[in-house]
Parts: sequence; C-alpha cells; structure tokens
Amino acid sequence: MKTIEEIKQKAIEEHIPIIMDDTLEEVAKVLKEIKPKNMLEIGTAVGYSAIRFSYLLAENGTIDTIEKDEERVKIAKNNIKDLKLEKKINIIAGDAVEVLPTINKKYDAIFIDAAKGKYPFFLKESIRLLSTKGVIIADNILYKGYTLSDYNKHKQRTAVRGLRTYLNDLQENNEFETVLLKVGDGLTITKRKV
Ligand SMILES: C[S@@+](CC[C@H](N)C(=O)[O-])C[C@H]1O[C@@H](n2cnc3c(N)ncnc32)[C@H](O)[C@@H]1O
Repeated sequence: MKTIEEIKQKAIEEHIPIIMDDTLEEVAKVLKEIKPKNMLEIGTAVGYSAIRFSYLLAENGTIDTIEKDEERVKIAKNNIKDLKLEKKINIIAGDAVEVLPTINKKYDAIFIDAAKGKYPFFLKESIRLLSTKGVIIADNILYKGYTLSDYNKHKQRTAVRGLRTYLNDLQENNEFETVLLKVGDGLTITKRKV
C-alpha cells in the first residue's frame, strides 16, 4: 500500500517524469471549474497525474489514460489499485498514435503529456474527441525554451518541430482559443471560442 506522496517520491527517485507542482496547480484550477465527467490523458507514466486529476472530476467521473511503456503500465496499475481508484482510472496500454483513432467517445478534458513530436497528431485527435465545452491541456510546450527560440540541433529536432507545429496549428484554427502559461515546462489551455 502506498500513499500519493510516496508514489510521487518514488517517481522522482527513479527519474520518471511526472507533472510539476506548479503545473498541477494550474491544471487543477481548470478541472475544478469544469468538473469533467470524462477525461482523457495521453501519457500515464506511473499514474501520478491521473491519480491527482481523479479527485477533481465530477461525481462518478472517470479518466482514460494511455501509456505505451509496459513496465510503467504495470506500476501505474498497482499504484491505482493501492489507492482504490480502479473504478475511476482506466489505463489503456498501447501507443496513443494507434489507440486514439479507435476511441469514439467525447471528453470534457484532455491532457496531452507524451511524445512531443506527436503533439500535432494528438491535437488533431483531441479536437475530434472533445465535447462541446471541453478543454485541451498540453504540458511541456516550451520544452526548456527551445520551442520559441531558434534552437535547431539534431537531437531534439523532432520534438521541437512537433511543439512548434502544435502551436501553429492552434493559431491557425479559428474555432479555438489558447492560453500559454509559463509554469513548469510550459502549459497550454485550449477552449472553443464562445
Ligand atoms: C511525461 S510522462 C507522463 C507523466 C504523467 N502524465 C504524470 O504527470 O504523472 C510521458 C509518458 O508518455 C509515454 N508515452 C510517450 N509517447 C507515447 C505514445 N505515443 N503513446 C503512449 N504513451 C506514450 C511515456 O512512456 C511516458 O511514460
């Protein structure tokens, strides 16, 4: 049996990337406002953020969360079981690039937190899966400052290109409005225009 703090500390010790405290605070503000009935997360890791979000849903609300790393899926399942949240959090094991096109339900909140190079694809799918009043939140948008600089080194080029395209696609989409917050590694909050 573990507590949520122990899950967080273990993830930090094992260098598993989890949501930063200030980023979590901003996401929590949005979730408290909209009280999602259905939430989707892309990138579970060990379940830390999904566990935090699960306490901010509407009564009987649920989260589907996608993770492609089998070892992390196992750890996340154990963590969720330890906290007795199996009815609230549903882990979908697999690559989100393959899983997302198979989903056909609507979500009030979608949290994107996986491969940065795939963000444009995740955005396209998230728009398809978003309920009318839904919100898309994406983490790590500024990526250590690379996204909005002239950084062009080979190692992170795919990730940086993905994040730049993500922001461009949102800018060119007249249906949505986006706020970029400089918390953590950069967070965007995207809603339909009213
Ligand atoms: C930053 S971590 C997620 C952290 C988690 N949201 C939290 O804050 O506790 C990103 C996770 O996304 C997973 N991932 C990366 N690309 C993916 C993909 N295409 N499909 C599913 N999971 C992916 C990685 O294995 C990793 O565990």
